[in-house]
Amino acid sequence: MKIRIAENAGFCYGVRRAIKIADEALSKNKTIFSLGPIIHNPQVVKDYENKGLKVVEDINEAKNAVLIRSHGVSPQIYESISKKNLECIDATCPFVKEAQDYAKKLYEEGYFVVIIGDKNHPEVQAHIAYANYQAQVINSIQEAASIEAQKIGVISQTTQSVDNFVSIVSELVKKTKEIRIFNTICDATEKRQESAKKLALTSDLMIVIGGKNSANTRKLYEICKALCKNTYHIETKDELKKEWFKNARNVGITAGASTPSWIIEDIIKAIETIDNDVY
Ligand code: F3S
Repeated sequence: MKIRIAENAGFCYGVRRAIKIADEALSKNKTIFSLGPIIHNPQVVKDYENKGLKVVEDINEAKNAVLIRSHGVSPQIYESISKKNLECIDATCPFVKEAQDYAKKLYEEGYFVVIIGDKNHPEVQAHIAYANYQAQVINSIQEAASIEAQKIGVISQTTQSVDNFVSIVSELVKKTKEIRIFNTICDATEKRQESAKKLALTSDLMIVIGGKNSANTRKLYEICKALCKNTYHIETKDELKKEWFKNARNVGITAGASTPSWIIEDIIKAIETIDNDVY
């Protein structure tokens, strides 16, 4: 059995940066309050909770110091932090910040702001706030078809798939003479998706590693599953099943942008043990 890892897998720039910011802040503060889990990975969140990073869902539950995670927050949250005199530790990913700036700019320039993404994702909810809550979030060609506006301004959730973005934008172009498009899909996502595709095409088993609550990991899973029927999404080595490996000669591994390398290594070691058992 051959085990190959996707060329781009695991922590992206924004997540690595957020973890570094949290580490630095925790070395100075005993307790920091994170607005939502620092990243979409339960194992990492648990680890950081032990180090003093407490997860809260509401700014009113926070005291002293607040960490803004890589997904970013609305302008109203920044206002509350400042009103409450809390220390603001801002780990918003610079690429997310860029998308927020475009949302604001498009709204201010009179465009009907369309955000391509998942309306329930915290990153997207912050984008909506930067467009003064006047944006419409869509995620399919059907939803694009229902949009009526003279001037359309488009941004994307950073973790959106390029193919979905392109097909929705092609539909939106038919709806108006004036359209402004900012491709705010982050490079890391694109690279992870491309190398996952490449690997899935030549693998007979794909293991996608990452939080079940991680949007970018779930997207990697969907992409791989479409190309390789035997694709499984797991968080830890305990979810591996021997029977998956019975007829597998080429095993591909990829991991979402919020998956730390120690989890990936753990899983590879466990697969190697299965290899010895099965063959
Ligand atoms: Fe940032 Fe891209 Fe990661 S937007 S948080 S570097 S997936």
